[in-house]
Amino acid sequence: MTATASEQTSGDTRDWAAIRADFPLLTREVHGKPLVYLDSANTGQKPAAVIDTVDDFFRRHNANVSRAVHALGTEATEAYEGARSKLAGFFKAHRDELVLCSGTTFAINLVAYSWALPRLKPGDAILLSRMEHHANIVPWQLVAERTGATIKVAEIREDGSLDLDALHAAMTSEVKILGLTHVSNVLGTVNPVREICREARRRGIVTVIDGSQAAPHRALDIPSIGCDFYAITGHKMCGPTGTGALWARREHLAAMPPFLGGGEMIREVRFEGTVFNDGPHRFEAGTPNIAGHIGLGAAVDYLDAIGMDAIEAREAELLAHATEALRKIDGLRIIGTAPEKAAVISFLVQGAHAHDLATLLDLEGVAVRSGHHCAHPLLQFYGVPATCRASFAFYNTHEEIERFAAALTKVRRLLG
Ligand code: ALA
Repeated sequence: MTATASEQTSGDTRDWAAIRADFPLLTREVHGKPLVYLDSANTGQKPAAVIDTVDDFFRRHNANVSRAVHALGTEATEAYEGARSKLAGFFKAHRDELVLCSGTTFAINLVAYSWALPRLKPGDAILLSRMEHHANIVPWQLVAERTGATIKVAEIREDGSLDLDALHAAMTSEVKILGLTHVSNVLGTVNPVREICREARRRGIVTVIDGSQAAPHRALDIPSIGCDFYAITGHKMCGPTGTGALWARREHLAAMPPFLGGGEMIREVRFEGTVFNDGPHRFEAGTPNIAGHIGLGAAVDYLDAIGMDAIEAREAELLAHATEALRKIDGLRIIGTAPEKAAVISFLVQGAHAHDLATLLDLEGVAVRSGHHCAHPLLQFYGVPATCRASFAFYNTHEEIERFAAALTKVRRLLG
């Protein structure tokens, strides 16, 4: 692949250059250089369709939802609930199975506090993989402290893939919950969640899948995965920040006490006691992020129009190109080389600190993340305090990858 490599993904008729032009921010410069945004695992950029939808909501429809009978209240409610339906369609789920919330962190905490806290007891265990984001570790530690349950860890192999034999062996009778990421935010490893959930279900273990890094990059039929809970973050999939959803089996939602109390999650309140709302609304106390979720509805329409299979294929090409380009750089080590991998590359350069690399790359217009990526236990496994991470999305280009590799070569010389 060269700097002039076509932006056409093989066998695909989509005009990726035109798609990129849907993202206004990507035309800007940083430090006098054209921006190369390689931090989409951190947060994704937004197409004009999403920006315009949010803008239009505030300019023309702004009102609270599910409360007022006036025209604006009805419009806002229809648009908000319409977004829930769009998300449900996108994930092949039922709208009654989707709790709208601020993102994966909230979604996992909801499961931890509403499902796990009332059920776990001393002697029970929560099984987590080594590659979890802190959002799928810390809520479980808090619950373990309060219930007397313990945390067990499923280890990974050096290439960053899960050791499935070890994982299945760790699914012992005291394990009640398995918390697992679908795609690692640091390594890009794609875990075989269907197979794992099948094994867990056979053993009566409830599965909580962190889908933050999967939902933006591949077509998902969440119910067919066979998990119990699936957490989604909107801002990594072209939606606004502060949006997301928890997908849950209906029997779990029906059996879970609410996590937060307040307006809209009730049917009737008396001082003697309260009757809660049904379904997902029971977990949506207070005024929600209305504009944000309507924007997320526009985001899934946008992704759907491109096609998630096409997005996955495009990003696989970008990953292959970037991996090949980075492998040519002396002293560069890629962390995470599992066979099933999403478009994320964590790397180290001999003799250079990750933050210095990221700072110098920024001066070249290249935005990458450096640090622990909210995954301390994973970095401890590799014996490093930090990595640099380039994460790609379908709106990136082959030319940007060449610019990234050239900038990295220059920065490496400066630091060497
Ligand atoms: N924002 C987190 C990341 O960058 C999840 O990976």
